[in-house]
Amino acid sequence: MKNDLISVADLDSEKIWQLIKSAIKMKTGNRRPFLVGKSLALIFEKPSLRTRVSFEIAMHELGGHTIYLSQNEIGLGEREPISDVAQVLSRYIDGIVCRTFSHDNVATLAQYATVPVINGLSDLEHPCQALSDLLTIYEKKGKLEGLTLAFIGDANNVANSLLLASALVGVNFNIASPDGYMVRGNILNQAQELSQKSRAKISLTSDPSEATEGADVVYTDVWTSMGQEEEREVRRQAFLNYQVDNKLLSLAKKDAIFMHPLPAHHGEEIAEGLLESPQSVVFDQAENRLHLQKAILIELMRGV
Ligand code: CP
Ligand code: NVA
Repeated sequence: MKNDLISVADLDSEKIWQLIKSAIKMKTGNRRPFLVGKSLALIFEKPSLRTRVSFEIAMHELGGHTIYLSQNEIGLGEREPISDVAQVLSRYIDGIVCRTFSHDNVATLAQYATVPVINGLSDLEHPCQALSDLLTIYEKKGKLEGLTLAFIGDANNVANSLLLASALVGVNFNIASPDGYMVRGNILNQAQELSQKSRAKISLTSDPSEATEGADVVYTDVWTSMGQEEEREVRRQAFLNYQVDNKLLSLAKKDAIFMHPLPAHHGEEIAEGLLESPQSVVFDQAENRLHLQKAILIELMRGV
């Protein structure tokens, strides 16, 4: 039976730790070509720097290869139904990464494909980002359980996956968002259910200072995600008090780290220069996409 990675909630805490440990081995020198002769299709309906390049390099270093398919080329759901694309691709290749507007698209792809499907970002989740972020936090802090992460801004795909991942491994999750942009009910319910086992505390507020107070990790993402460009002005107004700057960061623990999945809008969700601050780990965070995704690819594709 093939396995997919569509949502962080597809995993449990043991599986997440297995991926983190495997990624650390990849990063610290295991160069075995686990996926020789395997092919991975990258279906991308939206632009990407990190996700595309890290998956391409990961497959190359593992001995396999990738085929990049933009929306112009395959017209997912437009030129032909997603179910047909899934079944055809499954006859040629060994795995699929899909970055799409609608989470339903990647779920449908997984339903009809007979090879593993990995969510490379949808409107609802960004699981590869959240799992890589746990690796970065673990590297910087030496543990996960009992830490507190403050997410400042839009309860978007990145926030949703981070919330679920935190709930699974026992990271307390404070999120500060303006009215209308808070975590949606179904994701919150899912996270609350998962947190019962890990005892992670989840707290929602509209006050960025309250969320940041005493945090180990301060995290933000863009106010306007890909596909929401028409709302940019409305969102800019709604999020005006949600910029992460040195003043806000100073409310967190002294040794707190600052994280952002990138791309960043400098001067919007982060103050100019913040990425270069000594507390910022954003470039290590970007690098870790490569190592953690290698672990995901090996886990899902090795036996296929
Ligand atoms: N963080 C992230 O997924 O970056 P890209 O959109 O460049 O892939
Ligand atoms: N929330 C952002 C993340 C980009 C990696 C977006 O969806 O555009």
